[in-house]
Amino acid sequence: MSAISIHPTDAALGAIIEGVDLSRVPNAGTIDTIESALEKHGVLIFPDQRISPAEQVAFSRALGPLEATANIDARLNGQPEIFVIGNTGVRPVSFAPQHGSEDLEWHTDHIHKPVPARASLLYGKEIPDTGGDTLFACLYSAYDALSPADKSKYETLEAVHSIEGLRAYLHKQAGEKGYEPGRQEAMPECVKWPLVRRHPTTGRRGLYFGAKVTVGITGWPREEGLRFISELTEHTTQPAFVYRHVWRKNDAVLWDNRRVLHAATPFDMSRQRRLMHRTTLRETTPIA
Ligand code: SIN
Repeated sequence: MSAISIHPTDAALGAIIEGVDLSRVPNAGTIDTIESALEKHGVLIFPDQRISPAEQVAFSRALGPLEATANIDARLNGQPEIFVIGNTGVRPVSFAPQHGSEDLEWHTDHIHKPVPARASLLYGKEIPDTGGDTLFACLYSAYDALSPADKSKYETLEAVHSIEGLRAYLHKQAGEKGYEPGRQEAMPECVKWPLVRRHPTTGRRGLYFGAKVTVGITGWPREEGLRFISELTEHTTQPAFVYRHVWRKNDAVLWDNRRVLHAATPFDMSRQRRLMHRTTLRETTPIA
C-alpha cells in the first residue's frame, strides 16, 4: 500500500488525502492518520475513489458508529446507512436552493437530533457540469473572530434546533411544486445545545448552529432569535472562513460536524443530475 500524503488547501479548512483506498477497511494506523488529519483540517478530500455502498459503509463504520437518516425514503435499498442525496430518484433530496439568489442552507448534520452527527462522509456518484458544489465554513474561525464581549455573551446562550426550521426552508424552496418530505422517523419537536461548543478532542471553541435548522435562542423573542441567527450565519460564512469543494465524480469528502457548517450550492435540477451517497457517524461525546 502506498504511503498516505496530506496536502492542505489554501483555505481555512480542508486537505486532500492521497494513498487511502476507501474500498478497504482501514487498519488502526490509517484510522489514526485520518482522525488526526480530520482534527487538524476539518474537511478531508479523498479523490478518485471507486467504492460500492457496502464498502462505503464498512469504511465509515471503522471510524465509528453510524446513524441512518430519519428520512426513511432516502435510505438506500438494502444499505440503510447510506443516505441518498440528489435528484435522480422519485423524490429529490437536496439541501441546495433552486436559485442562486436564495439563502444557502448552512447546517451541521443532525444538530436537531438528541444524538447529533460527529462526522459525515459524502461520495460523489453523479456530478452536474456546473453548480452543486459543497461549501464548508470553519466554526472555530467564526468564534475566534468575535470580540471579547461577544465571546462572553455567546458563552451564556443556548440555541434551539428543530427539523421544522429545515422543512419551512424546503417548502419555501419548492414553491408551487410543493415539498414532500417522505416518511420520517419520529423525533423530538426541538433540541437545545449551547451556542458555543468546545471540541472534545482539540479543546477549541466553535459556534454550534445552523442557518435554518436553528429556530431560536432560549428566552429570546422568536424574531430576535431568527435575526441573530441570520447575522451569525453571515459572520460565520464570510469567504475567509470557507472552503468550496467543486466535485469531481468519485470524490469522497469527510467532514467534522463539530467544527464545520456546510451547504450545497444550486444546480440546474431540470437538466442536470446530481447523486451523492452519505454515511453519517454518530456523536460519541456528550455536548453539554
Ligand atoms: C449534506 O448536507 O449532507 C449534503 C451536502 C451536499 O449535497 O453537497
